[in-house]
Amino acid sequence: MKFFVDTGDIDAIKALAATGMLDGVTTNPSLIKKSGKDFIPLIEEICDVVSGPVSAEVAATDYDTMIKEANKLAGIARNVAVKVPLTQDGLRVCREMADQGTMVNVTLCFSAGQAILAAKAGAAFISPFVGRLDDLSADGMNLIAEICEIYGNYPNWETEILVASVRSPMHITESARLGADVVTCPPEVIQQLYKHPLTQSGLEAFVKDWAATGQSIV
Ligand code: G3P
Repeated sequence: MKFFVDTGDIDAIKALAATGMLDGVTTNPSLIKKSGKDFIPLIEEICDVVSGPVSAEVAATDYDTMIKEANKLAGIARNVAVKVPLTQDGLRVCREMADQGTMVNVTLCFSAGQAILAAKAGAAFISPFVGRLDDLSADGMNLIAEICEIYGNYPNWETEILVASVRSPMHITESARLGADVVTCPPEVIQQLYKHPLTQSGLEAFVKDWAATGQSIV
């Protein structure tokens, strides 16, 4: 399963890239706003740091403007995945960009039916938002299970399931159990994955006992 980070924070992206764990980056207009940076130069900077897919989202909602924006974003770097909303116009843009060899990430997916449409439109990634479904007392991970089952019936569909709106390590482990292709997580959720109280207390004991031996390895 691939790990993408869901952020516009270039310092966080650089720190995660240094771990060797990072396979890609996703952004959205809200994350760009939060970063306080100019969109196009920020995507250029991210693409210099990360060689995997970097999702950059169109801002328009009508076909004519979206296709212009999509072409501009695709021209930034070869690893840009243009992100479009799951609407009729968005999927029309998806089909055209996919046909010209650009990766497209279809975002704001909340149903299995929408995921079927994205696969048929040639999306490289479908982004179901699990956290936002959980927020409504729906079961976000159930949607991932449904999409995994459906896509599994059609091995010729190349769309990867990119679990988005991830809020906790449980979303990540459950995505892996279900066989999702990618999770995109806020940096702090990736950090939480490293942590376990028994790891921490065990390490403290080892450090203390090693110091008591008076030895050194190097
Ligand atoms: O980038 C899309 C998605 O991951 C947004 O997550 O936390 O705003 O629901 P969230």
